[in-house]
Amino acid sequence: MELVKTRQELREKLNACRKAGKTVGFVPTMGALHEGHLSLVEAAGSQSDLVVVSIFVNPTQFNDPGDLERYPRDLNKDLQLLENTSCELLFAPSVEEVYPEPDKRKFDFGDLEKVMEGKHRPGHFNGVAQVVSRLFEMVNPDKAFFGQKDFQQLAIVREMVRQLDMNVEVVGCPIIRESDGLAMSSRNALLTKKHRKSAPLIAKTLSESCNFVHEKRIEDVEAFVLEVVNGDENLDVEYFEIVDGNTLQKVDNWEESTYIVGCIAVFAGNIRLIDNITYIEIDH
Ligand code: PAF
Repeated sequence: MELVKTRQELREKLNACRKAGKTVGFVPTMGALHEGHLSLVEAAGSQSDLVVVSIFVNPTQFNDPGDLERYPRDLNKDLQLLENTSCELLFAPSVEEVYPEPDKRKFDFGDLEKVMEGKHRPGHFNGVAQVVSRLFEMVNPDKAFFGQKDFQQLAIVREMVRQLDMNVEVVGCPIIRESDGLAMSSRNALLTKKHRKSAPLIAKTLSESCNFVHEKRIEDVEAFVLEVVNGDENLDVEYFEIVDGNTLQKVDNWEESTYIVGCIAVFAGNIRLIDNITYIEIDH
């Protein structure tokens, strides 16, 4: 695996691959890699000739400066983790390399960005779109791989690709979980012992709530999840919404859509965790 830090180096390496007729699979990350990221690299490796991973903690997508400061960074460990994967090229640019000038673009994702993460983290998805569109321009991948844990991000990136008419296929990959069910996230490393102990309750409760599909009303399922998770003194639900998996708008009943997903954000101390569960997915 080769590490490149500038756009120029990246371009040179990729030009050579393109000339050789290779397809490029791209996994954008913010580092602090874990099994979830490695599963994206594996998916990319199985669907492309060359895998490029980027590690860049993108300042424009952090609406909370404390969160940006706390965000875990360990390039050496990441390099080691990637060493035995199908990643051939690691792009780890500086902020100046990605943003030689401030990015003033304002995206409009309509209702997709008005709910859940978009509502609670103003500006977050604009920052995600800024960086992902720049990275896509630099890497020019055939396919790009994103985890379904960031369910809304995946929908936003797809919409961004559509709006910018980019020729890249966005591939969503399943959530990877710890053995106790907690969705893997770089932020898990920041949890205190007691919060780490409580955190699996989120996935456990989502999973239990699947038993209520068609049995209970949507609002009762929402109330159940809120009550159980908030019942743990170390957890504080920011939102739990049962939505249409395509439009991300709330559904009122189980018959309203053939793709229904429950999305949750929870504070475990000052660490914010997100997770989701698919309740119904027919012919999607
Ligand atoms: O999901 C992430 O890690 C980030 O939001 C991404 C897609 C790498 C953009 O900075």
